[in-house]
Amino acid sequence: MHQIADWLEKLGMSEYARLFAENRIDFSVLPDLTDQDLEKLGVVLGDRRKMLRAIANLDDKSPGVAPEPVLSSAQSTTAPTAAAKAVGERRYLTVMFCDLVGSTSISAQLDAEEWRDLVGAYLDAASAAVTEMGGYVAKKLGDGLMALFGYPVAQENDAERAARAALSIQRALAEVNRKNAAAGKPALNARIGIEIGPVVIDAAGEIYGDPPNVSARVQALAEPGTVVVTARVQRQIAGLFVAEERGSHELKGVPEPLTLYRLVRASGGGRRARQRHLTALIGREEEIAMLMRRWERARQGDGQLVLIVGEPGLGKSRLIEEFHARLREAAHTWVEWSCLQLLQNTPLHPIAEWGRQRFGGPDVPAERQRADLENSLAQVKLDPAENVPLLAPLLDIPLPKERALTLAPEELRRRQLAALTAWLMAGARSQPIVLALEDLHWADPTTLEVLRGIAERGALVPLFVLATARPEFRAPWGMRSHHGTISLAPLDRTQVRDMVAELSARHALSKEVVEDVAVRTGGVPLFVEEVTRLLLERGEQGGTQAIPPTLQQSLTARLDRLGSAREVAQIGAVVGRDFSYYLLREIAGIGDAPLQSALEKLADADILLVQGLPPASDYRFKHALIQDAAYENLLKSRRQALHRRAGEVLRDQFATAAAAEPALLAHHFTQAGLTEAAIEWWGTAGQRSLARSALVEAGEQLKRALDQIATLPATPALRREEIKLEVAFANALALTGDLVGGKEHYDRALAIYDPAEHRLLTTRSGRDVGVTLLSFRSSCVWQLGYPAASRNDAERAVKNARETGHPTTLMYALNRAAISYTFCGDYTAAHAQIDELIALADEKGKALGTLVRGRLFSLTGNAADAVRAITSGITSLRSTGATLYEPWHLWHLAMAYTELGQPEDARRCLDDAIEKVARSNEKWCEAEVHRIAGEIALKSPQPEAAKAETYFERALSVARQQQAKSWELRAAMSMARLWRSQGKSQQARELLAPVYTWFTEGFDTLDLKEANALLAELA
Ligand SMILES: Nc1ncnc2c1ncn2[C@@H]1O[C@H](COP(=O)(O)OP(=O)(O)O)[C@@H](O)[C@H]1O
Ligand SMILES: [Mg+2]
Repeated sequence: MHQIADWLEKLGMSEYARLFAENRIDFSVLPDLTDQDLEKLGVVLGDRRKMLRAIANLDDKSPGVAPEPVLSSAQSTTAPTAAAKAVGERRYLTVMFCDLVGSTSISAQLDAEEWRDLVGAYLDAASAAVTEMGGYVAKKLGDGLMALFGYPVAQENDAERAARAALSIQRALAEVNRKNAAAGKPALNARIGIEIGPVVIDAAGEIYGDPPNVSARVQALAEPGTVVVTARVQRQIAGLFVAEERGSHELKGVPEPLTLYRLVRASGGGRRARQRHLTALIGREEEIAMLMRRWERARQGDGQLVLIVGEPGLGKSRLIEEFHARLREAAHTWVEWSCLQLLQNTPLHPIAEWGRQRFGGPDVPAERQRADLENSLAQVKLDPAENVPLLAPLLDIPLPKERALTLAPEELRRRQLAALTAWLMAGARSQPIVLALEDLHWADPTTLEVLRGIAERGALVPLFVLATARPEFRAPWGMRSHHGTISLAPLDRTQVRDMVAELSARHALSKEVVEDVAVRTGGVPLFVEEVTRLLLERGEQGGTQAIPPTLQQSLTARLDRLGSAREVAQIGAVVGRDFSYYLLREIAGIGDAPLQSALEKLADADILLVQGLPPASDYRFKHALIQDAAYENLLKSRRQALHRRAGEVLRDQFATAAAAEPALLAHHFTQAGLTEAAIEWWGTAGQRSLARSALVEAGEQLKRALDQIATLPATPALRREEIKLEVAFANALALTGDLVGGKEHYDRALAIYDPAEHRLLTTRSGRDVGVTLLSFRSSCVWQLGYPAASRNDAERAVKNARETGHPTTLMYALNRAAISYTFCGDYTAAHAQIDELIALADEKGKALGTLVRGRLFSLTGNAADAVRAITSGITSLRSTGATLYEPWHLWHLAMAYTELGQPEDARRCLDDAIEKVARSNEKWCEAEVHRIAGEIALKSPQPEAAKAETYFERALSVARQQQAKSWELRAAMSMARLWRSQGKSQQARELLAPVYTWFTEGFDTLDLKEANALLAELA
């Protein structure tokens, strides 16, 4: 009890300490307190708000502790990454485990010091191999070693790096052994295992998750001297290494057996082998046309350079390939220099790699390669004696010692580069050259130097330079008139749809799923391919939500490259796909200067799209995948804190936005684990959707509110909320045609409704809940085929409404009772309700009354009055923004127009009604609309029996599917009358009889009496 007093004192509200003590309020109930509770206790409004806010800030586990700021950087403007590091993060990590075989038996044969040196040499070599490949040695355990790739910084080819490092350790060890063998020392053999997967890494670098364990176990299964990887790793590196399948293995602590692969060696030069394309080219006609035009000019001797710019996966390389394919038989020399991330600090690596391919590499004897080079130089009239010693080293062609040049390194390099450029220019003069430069963002500085020379001097020869780069690349050459740029745009919706359709071939994916793919991938072809592939593997139920493992690393790598801007991306990812500068600033608690620079960086890296200038700017993640990746990297606890902050900031400082998007707040509070707030906002969102006739959304939102309520212990306040939500949810279900579900929830609400306790409880539109509940249920049960129960509910509702003495409630009950009586065909009783209603009513009530009256007129042959009443009722209702029930009014209007001999008007109203049912999902009346359409088709000047039959079929099938027995009975009667007129009486009886005999009550109502009479005629 002391604590509560302290807490209140801290809030500056000690005056309530006694009150709280008297009411036995301690920390355990604080989180359950609602605004109403506090009001009952007599806490004034301002203090209630302060208290609720403070309660929301309580840390559930340590109530005594003063609330901490949500973000450690909340008040400061220091670099935000420190905060993230301090708590840890989630990552997709490649783990390599390396261990010596039989070390105990070897060490036993050796002197301890000798053993130490031997192991030391091996560990040094292994660590060097790991570090060289950009890995991180996390642990050395005796003679074992655990290395990580993807931490502290991810790169897009972590798995490939790990595999290369592993092979290189084995090679190094073989080397150590060869040396030691000469000295008579025993050989060392290592096993290596690699696994990749999601982990959590805490601030101290401690790893939580399976990959370390799995890689250790995989290592133990490897043969001495080999490298074994899991199928998951193999998927990421397939095509780069020669691998042998090693079958499926059960591993301790791993539920599913894993398929393992032994890596034999790297295949080829480390460039991704040209794959067969998954899809035919989509779009890009303009880009290709532009390339072809430029190529024509280059061919004429007017050299050209085109830089294709775009984020990863947008189709830069594909565009080059498509261009290549279109060159056909045109004489040209194709030279391709590809920059590799792994080698971005190796001078001229793209040229060396090309040289190896062009001249055959180590498999071809050195003399042959030199002769080949001499020959090609002579062909373009360059002096071999002078140029071979300069060029051979660049092309990785061995040169005998005596021919190596002895120049100062600077001078040598200068002359080498000049020779290379001269050779290219001369080559182009003898036959047009296409020089394809891939991925310039990874070019080493020396290569860039060469390219600068070519870019500036290539205008006068038939040379077409075609380069690709990511947006962050800054060309080191000045823009010239013979230079052009293509900024690739993402595919548009239609193109994504075409691409998915092609990828999924025989599997027809639903329209929603395809739409989802388009949204999530932002039209990046690579993402479209990967997301669709995952979808096909996992099935549509798996959803489009998961991030394909093949993209995990590259997405994380993109985020890691952002440095401190990464945290801003993560906070943005919690806020949502779209956010404003103001909102982000409040949530992040970062100062303007660092925040703006971070956002600029994110825009430059093509991660965010920006509109406007800060602070009046808005942002959107270019594709949801990167947003998801940023979100995934956050620890769950931190996500929770950020969601909470987002919800609170929206609620307290962005009231307009909050009112417009209550579901957004509900989402944040749900993710933050603040159940009460989540219930409140899901409820608000659901009621709001219901009011705007967004019935499906309303149903989902209300269900979420109810699901959350179910997780809490019942309190009176919660019970009150629950009743209201149940009624609203039941309405949403009943209106969308789920009558059975609707009835279930009306019943559930009634079961917890206690007249004594809930008498004064009103709905959001200010009506008594108990009366509302009965009124709604009355329509629902009539449709389900219980007319007597329907009348009973309606009567009870009116009686209870009178007792409340509450005009709004009474008007409502009368309106709904009139509906129920109309359904039952008791038009006199219905008119009586309306008379009483109109006497009481305000404007809206009068409009409602007029509509019920108008519908009654149309049913009783008073067509002219019906048209007048319904048209005026619709007009005044529309002016209040209400669109619910319009199909219902419209089909009655259509009936009246038919009666008046205005078939065109009738047709128009019906089409409108049918369209509205489909669009608003107001499906409760779908069967009846179709039945009426059929009846009207029969009444047209040229009766259309076939058309009517189709409508009746539809009405029957909808009614059956909804178990709406009363609508089914009406549809069956309409069909039976049609068939009887066609002489098919027996068929008519067989249709109608079972529907009629299903009924157990309401035999005095109009429909059942008519059905009975009709059956007698058919007998
Ligand atoms: N216009 C397109 N139509 C069909 N597939 C495409 C298209 N553009 C790219 N792709 C496919 O998307 C993937 C990524 O394209 P790629 O050219 O490698 O991207 P980048 O070089 O920009 O990183 C490849 O599999 C490619 O075949
Ligand atoms: Mg590429």
